[in-house]
Amino acid sequence: MTLVLSVDPLKPAAEAIRQAADVILSGGLVAFPTETVYGLGANALNPQAVARIFEAKGRPATNPLIVHVADTDSVLNVVTEWPETAVRLTARFWPGPLTIVTSRHTVVPDMVTAGGSTVAVRCPAHPVARELIRIAGVPIAAPSANRSAELSPTRAQHVLRGLNDRIAMVLDGGACPCGIESTVVDVTGTVVRLLRPGVITVPMLEEVVGGVVVGPGHEIVARSPGLMTKHYSPRTPIRLCTDEYPMGVSDISWRAGKKWGFVHFLGSAGPSVNGVVLRGLSENPQSAAADLFEALHSLDEAELDGIAIIMPPDTPEWAGVRDRLIRAAAEP
Ligand code: TXA
Ligand code: MG
Repeated sequence: MTLVLSVDPLKPAAEAIRQAADVILSGGLVAFPTETVYGLGANALNPQAVARIFEAKGRPATNPLIVHVADTDSVLNVVTEWPETAVRLTARFWPGPLTIVTSRHTVVPDMVTAGGSTVAVRCPAHPVARELIRIAGVPIAAPSANRSAELSPTRAQHVLRGLNDRIAMVLDGGACPCGIESTVVDVTGTVVRLLRPGVITVPMLEEVVGGVVVGPGHEIVARSPGLMTKHYSPRTPIRLCTDEYPMGVSDISWRAGKKWGFVHFLGSAGPSVNGVVLRGLSENPQSAAADLFEALHSLDEAELDGIAIIMPPDTPEWAGVRDRLIRAAAEP
């Protein structure tokens, strides 16, 4: 049985955090809220504990994990290089939804880095995540708390949907405010590379470090399945409607006689009509991101034949949301 402990997201009770930290220190798994999505945490320095993450998620061992630290100083315990670009980016965006890929320290088990020479690190801003890492006193490896290739969780119920009985504990701190996973950047090269878009956008990064190249160097593509196409998917088929994706709602053969959901980014929708379940997300990219996975989880539970989505504009502010939608719609 998975134990669910409710906590105040802003001021979590010390007792609940202590219990969760004890699970982490004894090698168990705890799902906890971060400002992006719920993470599935284990002691990053304990290979057996980290192996349980891969087992619970059904995650391929080739996909490395993010190591979460309590503050900027303790990142130096898990990395060997901390370039000037990392100093500047973390001064501006930590604690927060930015993950930095840099050279790993030997203390980090191979299991965490998928055997690679780099490690991804992040200092989360959510008070529950920060307290858990601080009280446990160890860095916490945590992927999103979903079964591999399924939708990321932004509520404790979403975690249980995929991982009930597979993990020891969930700290229920309500909704995750950002709603999509952290922006991931690689600082190992001469230029900063964006590996995954998130709520921290390319223009925001460029303000701090000058030019940013979108996309990984070749050596990273092979190792980072999170960057590959099929990911973050609901069980219900998804169709995207844009000029580039003509097989959208306009595809009559796809929608005829079926029950379908319809997502747009034009603000709140009216009631559902003619068997179409409407879900309107905000015109503001950050508010839309906050509700995105919740909308997809709830449409996924409505037993529809398909979900049609009108894509938001192709601008830097929408890059994170568009990335998750394109992956959700991709064929396996
Ligand atoms: O917001 C987030 O980042 C959440 C919360 C829990 O912090 N975590 C998260 O973890 O999204 P996960 O495992 O679902 O996604 C991590 C991504 C994956 O695409 C993984 O391949 C990539 O980061 N990654 C991890 N370590 C890497 C490395 N050393 N080099 C390149 N990519 C790496
Ligand atoms: Mg994930």
